[in-house]
Amino acid sequence: MDSAALRQLEDERGAHNYHPLPVVVASAEGAWVTDVEGRRYLDFLSAYSALNFGHRHPRLVAAAIDQLGKVTLTSRAVHSDQLGPFCEELADLVGMDRVLPMNTGAEGVETAIKVSRAWGYRVKGVPPGEAVVLVARHNFHGRTTTIISFSDDPVARDDFGPFTPGFRAVSYGDIESLRAALADPNVVAFLVEPIQGEAGVIVPPPGYLSEAAAACRAADVLFVADEVQSGLGRTGATLTCDWEGVTPDVLVLGKALGGGIVPVSAVVSRDDVLGVLEPGQHGSTFGGNPLALAVGREVVAMLATGEYQQRSRELGTHMLARLHNEAPESVEQVRGRGLWAGVQVKAEFAPVRPRCLRALEAGLIVKETHDTTLRLAPPLMIDEADLDAGIDIVLDVLG
Ligand SMILES: Cc1ncc(COP(=O)(O)O)c(C=O)c1O
Repeated sequence: MDSAALRQLEDERGAHNYHPLPVVVASAEGAWVTDVEGRRYLDFLSAYSALNFGHRHPRLVAAAIDQLGKVTLTSRAVHSDQLGPFCEELADLVGMDRVLPMNTGAEGVETAIKVSRAWGYRVKGVPPGEAVVLVARHNFHGRTTTIISFSDDPVARDDFGPFTPGFRAVSYGDIESLRAALADPNVVAFLVEPIQGEAGVIVPPPGYLSEAAAACRAADVLFVADEVQSGLGRTGATLTCDWEGVTPDVLVLGKALGGGIVPVSAVVSRDDVLGVLEPGQHGSTFGGNPLALAVGREVVAMLATGEYQQRSRELGTHMLARLHNEAPESVEQVRGRGLWAGVQVKAEFAPVRPRCLRALEAGLIVKETHDTTLRLAPPLMIDEADLDAGIDIVLDVLG
């Protein structure tokens, strides 16, 4: 089947819950994908940062193949030889105690919410049923019914209620808004993206993360960092929290943890927090399966050298400098850190989707987030010539 026929089939028989770019990918390697007709495109989206190491990184593929020849799924009814080492290696990478593996990012966030509530009742002493989790306005944490309950995006919410209670929103990047909300003794956690990805790569003011973490500590509230998109090298450090020397009380990871091969997410935390869970209170049939963990362990080993974080820092500085210095008239603001940028156009130049279509014609996959922002997230292993070629196309279509 050619691309047109495959797109038509998908349109006729699949649910219309996405609005994909009109390209049908058949294979991929590194920073490049190839469509059904054999045309190559540079990938500046990296599956929303799940492909931080590029497509089919040889080390990750080798880890998966090796594990496929041993055991792929056990469920947690028995132990596997991958679970203990995965937990130890991941916890050590981020300087924390304990790990609970799940599959998708949204499941990781759900897990963090459950753990925070249980900690609130069992450790902090919040009255039964009264726990409040603070979230930030314009957050994106996934698509489950509980998570969309505290979204303020009508597209994510409308017609999916009734919603889960127990959440309250504060202004993102505004420490006073957080401090005021922390006055409520029933608050158990502040769930926040250290950089808001889907909102448009919104970087909070310098010092916000460390002040927010300190304010939470003073109020006996858990600082829960959702680094599903911002973590694992994307911003030039292992975690975006590292930029401000913050160790969260609860950390949620996903996307790149599965090396672009398998869905792997994890909640990483301290003994006194994750330790509140008892057998039977949480789980997942596929969570912590040996295939996922073998790939995740290789991801952790690759990040442990610091090489990818450094690459992201260096190439990211170059990318952001070019976007700033060569921004055409249409650009309102360039935001970002490491190899992650949000290029926001002025209102009169929105929507940006037609520009994504022009980029695609020129051989670049880049996607909008909301109507005004192009999100750039090239794989961290991209070489400088490819990076520059992609930036040239971005600047051209914005011109
Ligand atoms: C910050 C953040 N949290 C959670 C999620 C949800 O991850 P998943 O799509 O794997 O459920 C995303 C996805 O984009 C995200 O950006």
